[in-house]
Amino acid sequence: MTQPDTTRHKALGYVRDEHRSMAAVVHALEFLAKRVVKGGTPDMPLLGAIVHYLTQFSERLHHPAEDRYLFAPLRAKTRESRDVIDALEIEHQASEERAASLSTALNRLAAGVPGADREFLDIVDRYAQFYWSHMMREETLILPLAERVLSDADWEAALEGFRSNHDPMYANDTANEFEVLFRRIVHLTPEPVGMGGKH
Ligand SMILES: [Fe+2]
Ligand SMILES: [Fe+2]
Repeated sequence: MTQPDTTRHKALGYVRDEHRSMAAVVHALEFLAKRVVKGGTPDMPLLGAIVHYLTQFSERLHHPAEDRYLFAPLRAKTRESRDVIDALEIEHQASEERAASLSTALNRLAAGVPGADREFLDIVDRYAQFYWSHMMREETLILPLAERVLSDADWEAALEGFRSNHDPMYANDTANEFEVLFRRIVHLTPEPVGMGGKH
């Protein structure tokens, strides 16, 4: 295939991989929140790592990259699915609010506030529902539309943009902070959702 087609597939690969990682982390968070409500001791370092990943990677890197490299060029090229793009952008704009409610619920859990376990699970459930619906619309409506209408130049910009989300931040490492964090979360999350601290 031609170079632009490869570029498009690579760019789409980044978006889909980010969705898969975010879905895995949200799933782990739901699993852990349910265990806490059933009387399990909250693993605060692990929960803290998950909330950090979601607030810093999903909310501050992933969604802005979609706004810039998918939604903006789509708006410039078509009116198709405009209502869906409008709704997704509004959801992106509520990033800080979502991150804050998750962090606040986690802090209340850490402080042992009575009823904080139940509140935490409610916030996590809402967060998870939001993500399934949001990512489903992006995957089923927006990515296929982008495949149809974006230009080679749009895909080149998108590939660069999404790739920069994965740039190593440490000179002596090949992975970036969030990839390392993602692997740590999967490693530490109890089985069967994670690896339970085993190799
Ligand atoms: Fe998004
Ligand atoms: Fe997304």
